Amino acid sequence: MIAESHRASQPEHLRVGLPQPRVIERWLCQALDRQGVIDPHERRAMLTDLYDRLECGEPLQYVLGTWQFRWIELRVDRRALIPRPETELMVEWILAELAGRESPRVLELGTGTGAIAAALAHELPSVSVVATDVSADALALAQDNIVSLRLNRCIDLRQGSWWEAVEEHERFDLICSNPPYIADTEWNSLDPMVRDWEPRRALTAGPTGLECYEVIFHEARGRLGGQQGAVVLEIGSSQGFNVRRLAIDAGFDDVVIHKDLAGRDRFLVARFR
Ligand SMILES: C[S@@+](CC[C@H](N)C(=O)[O-])C[C@H]1O[C@@H](n2cnc3c(N)ncnc32)[C@H](O)[C@@H]1O
Repeated sequence: MIAESHRASQPEHLRVGLPQPRVIERWLCQALDRQGVIDPHERRAMLTDLYDRLECGEPLQYVLGTWQFRWIELRVDRRALIPRPETELMVEWILAELAGRESPRVLELGTGTGAIAAALAHELPSVSVVATDVSADALALAQDNIVSLRLNRCIDLRQGSWWEAVEEHERFDLICSNPPYIADTEWNSLDPMVRDWEPRRALTAGPTGLECYEVIFHEARGRLGGQQGAVVLEIGSSQGFNVRRLAIDAGFDDVVIHKDLAGRDRFLVARFR
């Protein structure tokens, strides 16, 4: 997820390196190009509208309507969380776990825009992904994305709360998730650009922030097929100890925490020997 990007105390993550005004103007113009708006009057009116949206505090990514995630361009709007740069790094850890596997079967819980599933399918054509979300809105956006990227043949989108979307008999080589991990009490301290625009359901987990990890680890071990399965999760920078404990309690005995580019604990990889 976006980790400390959520927190007003660490806004640098959130802003994702907001570009210079001239760059923003170029991107807005490109957004109009993509929509096929060529009439100069119409362009000017629409550009004014886009600037007004930015002025109101709407995130640049939503205003542009598309955002780059690794090698793919995704449609983004208020139906789902904006994919963050840390999550691009999480895909690296997933790919590392899948290296050498012939036709890996991956489960992604809480897919949002479909960013992780689509990036995996794009970079690893032999993969098949079941990608779930509780939000019908997010899944509709994910569907748009995987269809326009022509990845729908290897991604199976399903609606349901966590394990409810997975059949009893299904087994996977890898389970990944960037679940909500903000504690309810942190909601009011989030940067307004996050709190006022992105779906709350994508951000908050419950009273402690660990609730989604608890649900995921409750069944993860039994849903991995072979002896080499792995769970790869994005975590909040202060959650490493607790999520590691959940993984160990769930039967994983090889649990590693990896850092993001800012040097903060951000990813957990759990395996069993
Ligand atoms: C932090 S967002 C991550 C979205 C996307 N995977 C990404 O990395 O950009 C968490 C996602 O989990 C979904 N979610 C929240 N509660 C859920 C639940 N009970 N079952 C399944 N997904 C859930 C949200 O709708 C949201 O899309």
